[in-house]
Amino acid sequence: MTTTTTWTDRRTTAPTGHPLLSPHDLAGLALPNRVVMAPMTRMRADHRGVPTPLMIEYYRQRAGAALIVSEGISPNIAGRHHPLQPGLDTEEQVAAWRSVTGAVHTAGGRIFAQLMHSGRNTHPANRPDGGIPVAPSAVVAPGPVHTLDGKVDPVVPRALTTEEVRRTVADHAEAARAAIRAGFDGVEIHGANGYLVHQFLADGTNLRADRYGGPVSGRIRFAVEVVEAVADAIGAHRVGLRISPGNKEGGMVERDPAPTYRALLAAIAPLGPAYLHLTDDPRYPALDDLRPRWSGTLVGNTGEHVETTQESATALVASGRADLVSVGRPYIFNPDVVERIAAGVAWAPIRGKDYHYGSGPHGYVDLPRHDAGTTLRTPAPISEKLEE
Ligand SMILES: Cc1cc2nc3c(=O)[nH]c(=O)nc-3n(C[C@H](O)[C@H](O)[C@H](O)COP(=O)(O)O)c2cc1C
Repeated sequence: MTTTTTWTDRRTTAPTGHPLLSPHDLAGLALPNRVVMAPMTRMRADHRGVPTPLMIEYYRQRAGAALIVSEGISPNIAGRHHPLQPGLDTEEQVAAWRSVTGAVHTAGGRIFAQLMHSGRNTHPANRPDGGIPVAPSAVVAPGPVHTLDGKVDPVVPRALTTEEVRRTVADHAEAARAAIRAGFDGVEIHGANGYLVHQFLADGTNLRADRYGGPVSGRIRFAVEVVEAVADAIGAHRVGLRISPGNKEGGMVERDPAPTYRALLAAIAPLGPAYLHLTDDPRYPALDDLRPRWSGTLVGNTGEHVETTQESATALVASGRADLVSVGRPYIFNPDVVERIAAGVAWAPIRGKDYHYGSGPHGYVDLPRHDAGTTLRTPAPISEKLEE
């Protein structure tokens, strides 16, 4: 069955008065509420990066979100973060994703694919081709790196040539086309949390002397070209960009984020993307600085240093600092985040990192809904975990 979304037919229930339960028009995609499921790597693909049946069930259970943003999906082999990270570069992967998106649509939901190129944040052991990690410059990330065989020292990445940078931009566009073929409603470009796009934006990791480095106008160029190429490929109304200015995750260094991100927003606004997904940071209060500079839809996230709660999510949207709020860890433990808000039921508390990654169904698809009357089982031990 074909399950692509019609951009005007997913109208929703009437607002109930709760700030998170009112509808929102996302560039023609009607969202029934304001809660986005944040992208979360959960490592349930197979060793060829092919989504598994468990993933169909996981995403189907969470279709009550206004929009699901999938876990980070590598746009090409060089960008693969881990052997169990899903891809979109083979027809087998596309076909398997179609089952995931079909299940979400059948359950009444909407889902974007997050395109996540890891850049330096990988290891030859984690790449299917065993290749050296690539990055804007040969600046090594702090270790250790998690592989299926345990923790290992990081490898100094190889700087992409100018021609390779152009090809990587094109790979994002190709992956976006594949995402649409796979039934996704759009794509989010991962420009946050220390991955490749962020590595280009940050002065600590981008020491390039060509047009993709140097001053702010050079460092933002890769991000702008990726947004542009993906928008050309699938339509700007289907493209979101995630950024996390000032985030030091993965050893990132940004001496003065404000001018970089203000320039980035000014450059991508005319392209008319569906949304900007902004992760806040106490070291650079991105929401306060950038919200007034972005007139389109803004998805806010508190960042990993502060866990999202029902109260903080509500306050973020009610205050107008964001149009939508993305919720991460609570979605691991509550498949029915939105349904709980509507029923006036508290979210189940988040638990430790043992639940973040792993294999198999436990801690993944066996989390009870508020009306299910079941209890959470402890997940099977996980040999190694990744940093997100
Ligand atoms: C297990 C796990 C995996 C994550 N994977 C990703 C990812 O693939 N892409 C991404 O942009 N952010 C990722 N994040 C960050 C989340 O999207 C989110 O920003 C973070 O968890 C803070 O929101 P929260 O307090 O609601 O959890 C991950 C977070 C966790 C806990």
